[in-house]
Amino acid sequence: SDASMAESALAGLPSGPAAPAKPLVVFYGSQTGTAEGLAKKTSKEAVKRGFAPKLVDMAKYETVDLTKEENVLVITSTYGDGEPPDNAQAFWNYLQGEAAPPLAHLHYSVLALGDTNYSAFCQFGKNCDERLEKLGAKRVHPRVDCDVDYETPAKEWTEGVFAALSSSSDTPALTSGEADASTEEAPQGWSKKNPFPARLLANRLLNADGSGKEVRHYEISLAGSGLSYEVGDALGVMPANCGALVHDVLEALGCDGEEAVTTPEGTETSLRLALTQQYDITRPTPDLLKAAGERGAAGGELAALLDPARKDDLKKWLWGREIIDVIGGLTQPFAAAELTGLLKKLQPRLYSISSSPKAHPDEVHLTVAAVRYDGYGRNRKGVCSTFLADRCADNTPVPVFVQTSHGFRLPENGDVPVIMCGPGTGIAPFRAFLEERRATGAKGGNWLFFGDQKRSTDFLYQEQLEGWVSDGHLTRLDLAFSRDQAEKIYVQNRMLENAAELWSWLDSGAHFYVCGDASRMAKDVDAALHQVAETAGGLSKEAAAEFIQKLKSEKRYQRDVY
Ligand code: 2AM
Repeated sequence: SDASMAESALAGLPSGPAAPAKPLVVFYGSQTGTAEGLAKKTSKEAVKRGFAPKLVDMAKYETVDLTKEENVLVITSTYGDGEPPDNAQAFWNYLQGEAAPPLAHLHYSVLALGDTNYSAFCQFGKNCDERLEKLGAKRVHPRVDCDVDYETPAKEWTEGVFAALSSSSDTPALTSGEADASTEEAPQGWSKKNPFPARLLANRLLNADGSGKEVRHYEISLAGSGLSYEVGDALGVMPANCGALVHDVLEALGCDGEEAVTTPEGTETSLRLALTQQYDITRPTPDLLKAAGERGAAGGELAALLDPARKDDLKKWLWGREIIDVIGGLTQPFAAAELTGLLKKLQPRLYSISSSPKAHPDEVHLTVAAVRYDGYGRNRKGVCSTFLADRCADNTPVPVFVQTSHGFRLPENGDVPVIMCGPGTGIAPFRAFLEERRATGAKGGNWLFFGDQKRSTDFLYQEQLEGWVSDGHLTRLDLAFSRDQAEKIYVQNRMLENAAELWSWLDSGAHFYVCGDASRMAKDVDAALHQVAETAGGLSKEAAAEFIQKLKSEKRYQRDVY
């Protein structure tokens, strides 16, 4: 539990006659577990600095009496379009509501996690920061907004926060030198920074001929890695860029690839290797756009579009365009090191694991749609999805690591029924769940909603799913093939058609899971769930919302959406 976590962290400390440790609350709002991981790290660090931290899941904010606290840290990601992560929604409602107490006695600071590729970058962290200030709390250290490469800014924030909190308190802090030495965790095994070079055992197309999609099933060997995972976890895959694209970028620069450049880590390498393995060479960064605009990119059109008043036009123009489209034909081409200075580090991609380790020991399976489309006369390829599809064949290993999930788990008790809603590649974690529940002999009911475009070409894992239906493992399978008839039928339509039974499952304690598209599907499924609670459950609009909020805070409504 949170309390025992703080205690066990405290247990390792020499207990001297020092001043009593100062209380500190570390709240986290986390969707994939990154913010939660950072909050844990920060708590451990706090102990070393003479604080007595209490690590608190925002969903459990009621366990903290803010009127009695002095020091609060908030570490949170942002979700979707600037929204709170699921576990933070209730806390956010509380902070905004009339019950929010005046907080003039409180010292605080916010660490916001986000992704600059989204326009609502770190928005929820910003909202929390503003709201706490409005309530009178004193910001002791400025908020830090982290991009996907969060490690360094997060560490700087931690340093700054503890320096500020220590000077605003009378607790003697350990010197930062001492603390620093123990901050670094011992390198243990394969990780994001040091991924395991795994062997690809299988790469199978799941769609039939004539499908509009290319969804592939991958089997990856973890043998010898010491890596383990649980169903609900994600696999991180570190891709390399497409050689043909690297070739075209070099050509646009007038470089041969042998030029020396530095990697994001500061080591020296050749331009070709850097562009292949170290930098994102598809999505133009704001810095790159600015520099290319100044050099007359796209016949001067780009410079005009960079006028802040034309933000929407720029967005439209960029749709279907990539770095290669803005670095050619400049009045003065970028030199090798100039270009890499304008690029961002290539990032691993996370995929929901689609296998159970109990069904496939030493293996991990993925279900990934290959992204390919044409734009402005070029074939565009999703970096990691085509790395897996096209470039890992033969003996090219797949660099992988396991990203532990903190919010997507089967009920511990196998008797508890589960309802799973996973159209398209959203099926992935549910294949894993079903394999797991089969392997453990879990007796609870299993209900799956699956949907895709056409039954004849897109019924992913049809044989396995139908096998489970006929032997009774899958209690119910409801299918929504959107393009098999004139009008669209989606998974949420199937939910509504079965509202009464769905309600009775929920009423009897079922967990409800959603995986897949966040922008539309997950929102529509959420709306359908509210509707089920109203029509079949006989609840008012408000009571239905409350019911669903309660499902969330009891972790009976979990989402893995992207
Ligand atoms: P469509 O492409 O025919 O519109 C998996 O991608 C399935 O999800 C497809 O059948 C797709 O249908 C469907 N889908 C698209 N938008 C959706 C939404 N808002 N809610 C649920 N399913 C959706």
